[in-house]
Amino acid sequence: MSANKLLLKFARRYPGRILLTVILGFSGALFNGISTTLIVPVLLSFLQEAVELRGAPPLIKTLMYPFEGMPQNQRLVWMTLAIVLAIILKNIASYTNTLVATSLTRALTFDLREAGLRLLLEVDLDFYSKTKVGDLINRLGGEVGRTANAIGTAIGMFTTSITVLVFVGLLLSISWKMTVTSTILLGLVAWTNQYIITRSKYFGHQLSEMSKDYSVRILETITGIRLVKSTGNEEREYQRIKELIQRREEADFSAQVNYAAIAPINEVVNLIVIILIVFMGRTIFANEIESISTVLLTYLLVLFRLIPLISQLNSGRSQFATTSASVEVVNDFLSCDDKPFMVNGTVPYTHLRSGIHFKEISFSYPNHKNLVLQKVDLFLPHGTTLALVGTSGSGKSTLADLLPRFYDPTEGCILIDGIDLREFDVKSLRKAMGIVSQDTFLFNASVRENIAYARQEVSEAEIVEAAKGANAYEFIEQLSEGLDTQIGDRGVLLSGGQRQRISIARALLQNPEILILDEATSSLDTVSERYVQEAIEKLSCDRTTLVIAHRLSTVQKADQIAVIDRGQVVEMGSHEELLTKGGYYTRLYSMQFAEEAARDEALIRGSYEIRTRLTPMIAYLKLLVDEMVDSPEERDELIRESFHSAANIFKTLEFIENTIKRLAIKK
Ligand SMILES: Nc1ncnc2c1ncn2[C@@H]1O[C@H](COP(=O)(O)OP(=O)(O)O)[C@@H](O)[C@H]1O
Ligand SMILES: [Mg+2]
Repeated sequence: MSANKLLLKFARRYPGRILLTVILGFSGALFNGISTTLIVPVLLSFLQEAVELRGAPPLIKTLMYPFEGMPQNQRLVWMTLAIVLAIILKNIASYTNTLVATSLTRALTFDLREAGLRLLLEVDLDFYSKTKVGDLINRLGGEVGRTANAIGTAIGMFTTSITVLVFVGLLLSISWKMTVTSTILLGLVAWTNQYIITRSKYFGHQLSEMSKDYSVRILETITGIRLVKSTGNEEREYQRIKELIQRREEADFSAQVNYAAIAPINEVVNLIVIILIVFMGRTIFANEIESISTVLLTYLLVLFRLIPLISQLNSGRSQFATTSASVEVVNDFLSCDDKPFMVNGTVPYTHLRSGIHFKEISFSYPNHKNLVLQKVDLFLPHGTTLALVGTSGSGKSTLADLLPRFYDPTEGCILIDGIDLREFDVKSLRKAMGIVSQDTFLFNASVRENIAYARQEVSEAEIVEAAKGANAYEFIEQLSEGLDTQIGDRGVLLSGGQRQRISIARALLQNPEILILDEATSSLDTVSERYVQEAIEKLSCDRTTLVIAHRLSTVQKADQIAVIDRGQVVEMGSHEELLTKGGYYTRLYSMQFAEEAARDEALIRGSYEIRTRLTPMIAYLKLLVDEMVDSPEERDELIRESFHSAANIFKTLEFIENTIKRLAIKK
């Protein structure tokens, strides 16, 4: 769809206002024409000159007809009154027209913004992985604003065009020969403007481009302000953005300079054209110059009135050209053809009965070739927990994202109680799922609003209960205003663990049937992790849960653990089963638990040592206690041996202690 078609598509919603613009534009032009035509005869009468209408075109005759036969003085008064009336009516028409045009522009801007907003909410997640937020904000704000200006300009040009047509009609009726020549000459003026208009388009594009870069950069800097500050890059960012601002202003300046050139250039060229036309008029009307003076003067007056309108039209064209880049950007933005949209199903989701089957799933991200998942086949029975483990980048989050249909599998399908996920109404489906992920998102609102986000109508008691369930209530109570504390942009006023627990409270309150936990605890310190882990255990009991965890300690209790490696399920079973297999899981496990394993080993080795030392020592001591020793030498010997053993045991204990201390420091 072309950019202009977009404007038409939106404008078509307001046929009444458009019709009104046409009518008002036309009547304004008509009154304008009438008043202009009447001026010359009035002036001539005023100067006591003869008003010669012989040979005048029918139009002028018709206009003069009502005043014919009146006495000279009366006629002058009536004609003057007619001119004043026509001018008043013309101005009323043009004022009303401005009102209608403005309301139309506002309504269209509203519609464009609304359409943009709808689109942003409906479009698939994949769109966002490719589009910069700053760009989107720029489009929805600045570009839509400029498009609205373009609409305003277009309506203005439309009205001016009507007036021009009426005036040209007047001119034609007076002398077609002159008008054809003038039209050609004025056409030349319009043509000389073409160069300026092309430049306007170019500057418009630049302006759009710069505005985008500027918005993107400034938003990124603000969002990453911590990084900017911590790396001491304020100056660099400042310079970079300053440059963008400068370039944007330069583009804007060039556009203005270009636009401002139109009026003076046109005035000069128009003057030349008018002189040419007057000379031509002399030739054309040469024979009857005396008698025709009224007509010639009227002609020239209409022409004089027409020329600024043509200049206005030329300026309008240039302005429209500048904004056309924005119209194109908005058009691109609002077009749905190149954006991913989910085909929604019709079956409302109600309950999970038997389980979720990931059936032979292969997946690659849109516009990416490599398969992120390959023939993954997993069954998650109702009420149980399935854990996904594997190295980072193996595809765990991707698999989890398929369940709420953030993406659809490229091959295979997900079956819920045997029904393809795609058949369900996606909203009802997602409402049944609670998702807690590593990067929790909180709105800049109160704790209460954040917890209650997934459900609109909840009681205070329910919120408190959810907060308690998530181990969050204690710290919420400590906040200055409890549940009503504002938590800042994206929750910056809370710690990572606190944010995590609020998002768990949110999921708890939602009471989802299916729970998806994607590394919900990985970024937390050990104390927070313990709190969050407890909260998660409460949350997941009796629910169908898909859990992804980086730390294997958090998934040991899962009913099934699937090890994913480069997009494939390489092992499957419970924690104990997988450990006995001695495969991937054991390796992951031993890598992660190397420290714990080392500690265990130190303990086992140490205890073995102590036992081997203790056994003879006890035997010696028993001999001594039971007075089974024959000679004092043998007795001394046994005591010495026991002493050595005790000293060795002491050393072993020291070794164990040191090992444990060392591991504790490493942690
Ligand atoms: N939106 C995306 N577009 C393209 N590729 C992606 C996208 N998200 C993730 N990937 C790629 O998919 C692979 C698996 O990622 P992910 O599922 O996040 O792994 P994990 O959660 O196991 O660490 C990675 O190679 C990653 O680069
Ligand atoms: Mg992940």
